[in-house]
Amino acid sequence: MKRISILILCIIIVSCRSTETKKPITGLVVDSAMVVSAHPLASKVGVDVMKKGGNAIDAAIATQLALAVVYPGAGNIGGGGFMLARMKDGSVDALDYREMAPSKATANMYLGETGEAIPALSVLGHLASGVPGTVAGLEESHKKYGKLPWKDLVQPSIDLALNGFVLTEKEAEGMKYIQEDLKKYNSVLPTQLINENWKAGDTIKHTDLGHALERIRDNGKAGFYEGETAKHIVEEMTRGNGLITYEDLKNYNAVWRVPVTTQYKGYKVISMPPPSSGGVALFQLLKSVENQPIKEWGWNSAKTVHLMTEAERRAYADRSIYLGDPDFVKVPVELLISNQYNKERMSNFQPDKATPSSDIKEGDFSFVESEETTHLSVIDQEGNAVSVTTTLNGGYGSRVVVAGSGFFLNNEMDDFSVKPGAPNMYGAVGGEANKIEPGKRMLSSMTPTIVEKDGNLFMVVGTPGGTTIITSVFQTILNVVDHGMTMQEAVDAKRIHSQWAPDLVFNEKKALTEKDSLALVSMGHTFKMRNSIGRVDAILVRPDKKLEGGADPRGDDKAEGY
Ligand code: DON
Repeated sequence: MKRISILILCIIIVSCRSTETKKPITGLVVDSAMVVSAHPLASKVGVDVMKKGGNAIDAAIATQLALAVVYPGAGNIGGGGFMLARMKDGSVDALDYREMAPSKATANMYLGETGEAIPALSVLGHLASGVPGTVAGLEESHKKYGKLPWKDLVQPSIDLALNGFVLTEKEAEGMKYIQEDLKKYNSVLPTQLINENWKAGDTIKHTDLGHALERIRDNGKAGFYEGETAKHIVEEMTRGNGLITYEDLKNYNAVWRVPVTTQYKGYKVISMPPPSSGGVALFQLLKSVENQPIKEWGWNSAKTVHLMTEAERRAYADRSIYLGDPDFVKVPVELLISNQYNKERMSNFQPDKATPSSDIKEGDFSFVESEETTHLSVIDQEGNAVSVTTTLNGGYGSRVVVAGSGFFLNNEMDDFSVKPGAPNMYGAVGGEANKIEPGKRMLSSMTPTIVEKDGNLFMVVGTPGGTTIITSVFQTILNVVDHGMTMQEAVDAKRIHSQWAPDLVFNEKKALTEKDSLALVSMGHTFKMRNSIGRVDAILVRPDKKLEGGADPRGDDKAEGY
């Protein structure tokens, strides 16, 4: 036992950072307009749209479609997402294009004969997919706010798909990683994707996807939810015993929702309401730490990390019980984000002792190491801002490629609580509020967020990372507001994460000094290292009104602008 403790301490110490101070690091700084996304080609598509007179919404649409081609592990037309917008007049809006459970879905569809959860069913193959929402969301956002013609926003992604593009090293690795699953879950092989030896520099084409995008260019939403693409989806479901029907596709609608807002140290924070848990949980975290002298304690000092972890424990416990699709369950949003509730919630916080989560039942838990959702942040030359997080859920979703249309289908059904207390692929547990029901949207952690200072646009921020999304956005805001970092520094900064169950604190290498990590262990925290946490793409409006991009070095992410 003693040897194990010494070993754990050694691992922590080896992974610790030193305390030397560094020169400030600044991301790309531009005067007018910027896109930060997970792929350089997609960021360029978005910026080109704005150079042609498009606004931030147009750029966000074109960037998302480009990501569906050049970043197919997470960019998608077979998944869903959330868009948060703040227009130049200060008005805000939130669009929910989250996937929906098919009409034939049932609460017990992922349980075995003895009632046990069968995780593979909700993660891989045809049964794992919810009805996709992305194309409906893109069209809806264009109808309400778009400036340029729809066709001009879709064409760049068609060109990328049909002409081909060059794989980055990370993309090539991702494609190699899924080869076996592609063969296992596709009875019609997606031949253009099959290659055991993908490497950086190879050119890849997505011809079927290019033609599916042409149908979207020519017919908008109907070019996906009806006609040839719908036929391909339903045929694919029939081949693999999936549930999505023509009616499910035709009935899918994106929904405008009212964003949630709160104040943090004089800043106004705007974020995504349910069916994402992101905004609510983020605000609980901000409210729980607001009255503590974090700046004085210092970035990732033992005191700061202890406080954040204790706040996270409480917010994620609430998430598992109260949060779900507001069209199906009553979510007490106002209560959960109120000052009084969070003050009360933190009243048993002990400054020098971890509160164990051990009285909470926790199932088998294995963390997924990939960051395969994707976030993009956009600000245009007029000051409109868009924050979009979109996903297939796991990397390359269910690994099913719709034959004839060439796109990956999501495995978002795993975000439902398939059984009370059974953890999903991110270790999140849930119950009644997030149980599967036909037509219901599964609970999300995606947290597209916009921050205002003195009534002006200040920051656009978001990230992939499953349940770590909320804590990554939380830390990025604290890094700028409390710790005075530049946007790029706030994004680069090493992250930690905890979520109540399991009772662990995850840390990136060099997130903590040796002294602080020893202090935290002595308070009762247990650490587990992760290769990377989050992949934040953000934009900061500086005091001189210039825009600073923060593109996450953990991926191929890139800020582009002018
Ligand atoms: O909506 C959610 O919370 C998840 N489906 C997001 C998945 C994700 O971020 C994947 N990246 N690691």
